[in-house]
Amino acid sequence: MLRQDLLTALQAVLIFVGLNFAYWVFFKGLPGHSTLAQALRQRIRLWVYLLIPLVTFWWFVHRLIPTAQDYLRHKEGMVLIAEYLLLTVLSVLVIEATSAFVFDYIFAVRRKTEVPHILRSLAHGVVYTLLLLALLPRFVSLRDVAGLVTGSAILSIILGLALQDTLGNLFAGIGMQISRPYLTGHWVKVGNYEGVVERADWRSMTLRTLRGDHVSFPHSLLAKMEIHNYSSPSPLHAREVQVGVHYRHPPYKVEEILKRCALETDRVLPHPVPEVRLTAYQDFAILYTLKFWIDDFEQHLNIESDVLKRVWYHFKREGIQIPFPIRNVYLHPTDGAVDALAENVQMLKDVEFLQVLTDEQLRELAQRLTTQIYGRGETICRQGESGETFYIVKRGRVEVSTYNGQGQAVLRKQVMPGEFFGEFSLMTGEPRSATVTALEDTEVLVLGKEEMRRALAANAQLAEHISRLLALRRRQLEEQRALSAQRSPQEATAPARGVESLRRELLERILRFFSY
Ligand code: CMP
Repeated sequence: MLRQDLLTALQAVLIFVGLNFAYWVFFKGLPGHSTLAQALRQRIRLWVYLLIPLVTFWWFVHRLIPTAQDYLRHKEGMVLIAEYLLLTVLSVLVIEATSAFVFDYIFAVRRKTEVPHILRSLAHGVVYTLLLLALLPRFVSLRDVAGLVTGSAILSIILGLALQDTLGNLFAGIGMQISRPYLTGHWVKVGNYEGVVERADWRSMTLRTLRGDHVSFPHSLLAKMEIHNYSSPSPLHAREVQVGVHYRHPPYKVEEILKRCALETDRVLPHPVPEVRLTAYQDFAILYTLKFWIDDFEQHLNIESDVLKRVWYHFKREGIQIPFPIRNVYLHPTDGAVDALAENVQMLKDVEFLQVLTDEQLRELAQRLTTQIYGRGETICRQGESGETFYIVKRGRVEVSTYNGQGQAVLRKQVMPGEFFGEFSLMTGEPRSATVTALEDTEVLVLGKEEMRRALAANAQLAEHISRLLALRRRQLEEQRALSAQRSPQEATAPARGVESLRRELLERILRFFSY
C-alpha cells in the first residue's frame, strides 16, 4: 500500500512539473511584447502559481487509497478543502484573465479607448461579490447564508458607518466619470495645486505637480472643489507677464515691441494674437501686461521665461529702460568710452569692405556706430525682408542661412567676431539675401545708410571697392543656389566674366541708391 502511495506522490510531482511547463509553453506561444501577454502575465501569474500546487495536492489526496493508516484518516476532509480552494483560485484566475482580455486588449488595443480605473474597479467589485455569493453556500449551509444576510442588522449599521467615507468616495468618483471634468493626462488646477492627472481610481484622483510631487484628492472632496482644466475642451491657454517700463517711453512703441517679443518666442501661438494692456502708473514705472497664448501648459513657466528674456534683449536694443526703485547714479564717460571707440575703430579697420578708408575716416565712422545685443536664437535679419543696416560681429557668433523656394536651407555659415553681414541690402536696397540668427549672446556694431552715405561721399574709391567685393559674394551665393538646384555652376554664367559684369551692375546700383 505504501508503495502505491509513493507512486502516487511521484505522479503528483510529475503533474506539478508538467503544469509549470505548460504555463511556460503557453506564454512562450504569446508574443512577449504584446499588450495582452504583458497584462495576462501581470494579472494571472500569482493565481497560476497558487493553482498549480493546489491541483497537484488535490490530485494527490484524491488518489490516495484510504487505509487504516493515520495520515489518511482525514482524507475526505482534505479532498473537500482542496476542492474548495481549487474552485476559488480557479474562479479568480478566470476573472482576472477575462478582465485582462476585455480591458487591456479589447478596449485598449482594439477599440483604442482607455476604460477609467474606477469603472474597472467597479466591474471587479460586482463580479467578486457575485462569486462570493455563489461560493458561500458551498462552504456554509444556505440557512447560515440567509441568516448572515438578513439577521445581522447591527453588523450592517456598523459596516455602513465604517464605509460611509469609502462609499462617498466611490459614488462621487462614479459621478466624476459621468460628468468627466478631467481625464488622465489633462493639466488641471485643483485648490492650490496645478498638475497633470496621473490616475483616478475608485477612491481618489492623483495629480503630479510641476515639481514632481504627487497629490491625491479623495473624490468626495474633489466633488466640492473647483477644477480648472487647462487641457480640455481646448489646450489653448492664455498667460500673462507684467513688465514695468520707464515713464519716458511712449506706450504705443512699448506695446509694439512687447507684442513682437511674444510673437518671436518659440511655442507662443501667433493666433489668437498677443495683446498688451497698460495696466497701471506706478511710482517708478508704467506697468504693462503682455498676454499671449500657448497650447503646451506643461511648458508655461519656460515659455514665460523665454518671453521675458526676449523683452530684455529687445528693450536693450531699443534703448527702453526697465526702471527699479533705487537712485540712478550717472557716471561721466571716462577711459572706458575712449577704449570702446578705439576698439570699434580697430574692428572697422579689419573689415575688408572698408579697407580703403583712411584712419581719420574710420574714426569718424566708428563714432557713429551703435551697438546692439541679440540673445541666443534671436533673428537679426530675415531673408526677403527689407533692411538698410550693416552689421559687424563684435562678440559672440551668428549663423547666416539662405533658403530656396521650398524653404530648405541651401547654406549655413557661421560668422565670427570681426566678420560682417548685411552689406547687400545696405548697399543696393535689395531685400535681405539670407536670414541671420544669433547662436549665442551676440554684440554687433550697426552701421546705417546715412553713415554709409557720408563714408561714400568722403572716399571716392569706396563704392568701387565695395562693388567688387559684393560681386564676388553674390557670385558665390548664386553658385551655391545653382548647386543646390542640382545644376552645374558653369551653366549659369562663366565666373570670370560674370563677376566683372556683376561688379559694374552693382556699382551702378550703389550709386543710384545713395544719390539723394
Ligand atoms: P544682406 O542680404 O543684406 O542680408 C543677409 C546677409 O547675409 C547678406 O547681406 C550677407 O552679408 C550675408 N550672406 C548672404 N549670403 C552669404 C554667403 N553666401 N556667404 C556669406 N554671407 C552671406
